[in-house]
Amino acid sequence: MAEIGMFDSGNGGRTTLMAVRRWLPGVEIEYIADLKNAPYGTKEPGDLLRVTTRVTERLVANGAKIVVVACNTATTRCIEQLRREFPEIAFVGTEPALKLAAQRTRRGKILLLGTPNTVKSERVGQMIRKNRLQERLRLLPCPGLAEAVEAGIEVLEGGPDWEGARLAHPEVAKQRLAELLGGMTAAERDEIEVVVLGCTHYVWLRSQVQEWFPKAEVVDGNLGVAKRVRELWEAARQSNDAGYGR
Ligand code: DGL
Repeated sequence: MAEIGMFDSGNGGRTTLMAVRRWLPGVEIEYIADLKNAPYGTKEPGDLLRVTTRVTERLVANGAKIVVVACNTATTRCIEQLRREFPEIAFVGTEPALKLAAQRTRRGKILLLGTPNTVKSERVGQMIRKNRLQERLRLLPCPGLAEAVEAGIEVLEGGPDWEGARLAHPEVAKQRLAELLGGMTAAERDEIEVVVLGCTHYVWLRSQVQEWFPKAEVVDGNLGVAKRVRELWEAARQSNDAGYGR
């Protein structure tokens, strides 16, 4: 029985798992890579809600009290409905780190890489308005990139504090990245000060993205997720009724 459950369409969310384990070493976490239903990034919204509901049900049946949606697509598209569907569960979502990006550069240009579903989501639209990024954010939907990363991931057996995977074969993903970023001129790339990895799969490609934007800062939302999970975990340990605040 793992009190913390986590899922993604595949092994992208293992980058989130790695961050959470660093903040909560030794705590059991069940991770589900929902490869059967991957990719999430181009799924029709109704289907996406159905598959994420099913994965959540499995984690809850296995004892999860905290469910980490280690996927920007599922978070931006489904987390509100999941919260309503499972009111007893504390959900922690993974959102594109636009707020962090806005803090890192006051006036500079920001690039968001995400799946088509994430980039087009109402939630991302809200975040853009809230952080007043309309004039300086470039959105780049990256169809096929998560799949290309997934194809290169090798899942390994490891101890409880090991994320359990590595990007063993980055070549296909590198090529897809080049196709996607090739649409920007060198001058446009040069202007970018912060790149947001808005999909947990892309976190595996951090160094390859950095090569395209040598002067930019490359950020993701995993640290924020890890801190929030630890906060909930510790709060539940302190309150005797083992309740999970939200
Ligand atoms: N890793 C996921 C995300 O953060 C989804 C990738 C996919 O299945 O398209 O968006």
